[in-house]
Amino acid sequence: MPSSRILLAVTGASGAIYADRAVKIIRSSGNDFFLLTTAAARKVISLELGNDALGSWERQASAVFTEHDIDACVASGSCPVTGMLVAPSSLDTAMALASGLASNLVQRAGQVMLKERRPLVLVLRESPLASIHLRRLAELSESGAVIMPASPFFYHSPVTIGELVDGLVARALRMTGLDVPVPEWQGPE
Ligand SMILES: Cc1cc2nc3c(=O)[nH]c(=O)nc-3n(C[C@H](O)[C@H](O)[C@H](O)COP(=O)(O)O)c2cc1C
Repeated sequence: MPSSRILLAVTGASGAIYADRAVKIIRSSGNDFFLLTTAAARKVISLELGNDALGSWERQASAVFTEHDIDACVASGSCPVTGMLVAPSSLDTAMALASGLASNLVQRAGQVMLKERRPLVLVLRESPLASIHLRRLAELSESGAVIMPASPFFYHSPVTIGELVDGLVARALRMTGLDVPVPEWQGPE
């Protein structure tokens, strides 16, 4: 029995590498995941990571869904996922969640997290943000979601892009409730 299972939703923002590293960290920490992608995500994944990435994630997932699978288990609060990570999150999906919409499975599963008071973490990739987006993101945050801009940190001295991304993804995963190692700031030398 895995220690925790989360729903990893990948949407059509740039930054498919965030999902790639999330899969690696989830699996290497002995946890488990359901994978959910949107049509836009599948295009961006292929553009940014090539044609093999999605298949590799799917083989490691306990279940695989697309945005059309509105009857999937994660559409219900009875489904035993401990939290949901949207990485990368498009603005489109974030705005839909902020508006309470549930027009596809990503949106429905996100609304389930909010109503069930379970962790919903969005690694949002967009910059700059318009005032309308900032207002809606504040509302989404007040509803319980964690808005985590795809804005990596540098205090662990990352050398590769993978290391840079890992720091942020590990913190996002920890916020979904997974027990994963995170680079810790040790204070000044
Ligand atoms: C190559 C590419 C990169 C994109 N990058 C972003 C991005 O960084 N942030 C964003 O909010 N949307 C981005 N988009 C637009 C989204 O894919 C688009 O809004 C889509 O409707 C999102 O749908 P989804 O949320 O269902 O995945 C990008 C689109 C493409 C084709």
